[in-house]
Amino acid sequence: NRLQVLTKRNIPVYNFSCCDADKLIQLFEKYEFAGVIHFAADKAVGESVANPLKYFDNNIGGLISLLKAITQHPNTKLVFSSSCTVYGNPASYPVKESFPLGFNSPYGFTKLCNEQMLEQFYNAFPNAKICALRYFNPIGAHESALIGEEPIGTPNNLVPFITQTAAGLRAELTVFGNDYDTPDGSCLRDYIHVMDLAEAHVAALKYLEAKKEGCHTVFNIGTGVPTSVLELIQVFEQETGETLNWKFGPRRSGDVPAIYASVEKSHKELGWSAKRSVNEAISSAWKFQKNSILTNLSKNE
Ligand code: UD1
Repeated sequence: NRLQVLTKRNIPVYNFSCCDADKLIQLFEKYEFAGVIHFAADKAVGESVANPLKYFDNNIGGLISLLKAITQHPNTKLVFSSSCTVYGNPASYPVKESFPLGFNSPYGFTKLCNEQMLEQFYNAFPNAKICALRYFNPIGAHESALIGEEPIGTPNNLVPFITQTAAGLRAELTVFGNDYDTPDGSCLRDYIHVMDLAEAHVAALKYLEAKKEGCHTVFNIGTGVPTSVLELIQVFEQETGETLNWKFGPRRSGDVPAIYASVEKSHKELGWSAKRSVNEAISSAWKFQKNSILTNLSKNE
């Protein structure tokens, strides 16, 4: 509904599981898609450790169904949501696309498995046009404050946890670990504004469209700039004027100390780079948080 408001277009929606290959095949018969962006997956690292089968079913099963539908429409351009989690615990940074791959969780395993499925699929169907985007840490919201991150239940990710704490919905933020081998002891990540990430998908579709022959490639989608958890809290406080209630806690299992992107390949080959700062991303996340509280209040009135 919010997308329809923003785009002023009627957007057809079909509500079914991506694992349902028959329904997907029917949909591909109904429309001739200019491109497919496959976002549908589970992404909570901790949950995947407790319930790996859910992740195997949904993340691997969903891609199998989609590829079944694509085999019947071999010119389809496919952009796949991958993740920097496929680098496992990298030996050095910034990480390049050519670095060795690994995983630290069932979630990470499914993303790596998905990438390898795409590679094998491409070997069998060399006319396919496939691009996997390895997202780093997407944060922030659309500038309208209509679309943003509103996790169901307790947020797993840092930024929604920060904004919900500042909004009084959570008592305090725990910073997981203060003894990492990083400049301030907290983990380093590459936080990318979700609007930059969105633009990377448009660039990827254009990239595939321009290819005369089949192709299969991967790109890092990050800023190339590392930010620590403590720095992000500081940015939040500077940008919003709010004081965040936080404390240090133990390390979270499965967290890697540091990871950030080499963005050389996406600059050169995709012609895309992140334009927005981490400050802009944090401001937009806060604007969205405040707006979503107002929207929920008015819904309950
Ligand atoms: C993880 C995955 C990433 C995936 C993303 C989606 C890995 C290595 N990364 O990112 O691929 O796309 O989840 O969910 O598997 N933190 C706190 N307190 C909190 C929450 C987080 O200190 O309450 C810290 C974490 O320790 C981490 C940083 O904030 O250092 C970012 O955490 P988070 O937002 O959960 O993302 P990642 O774990 O980096």
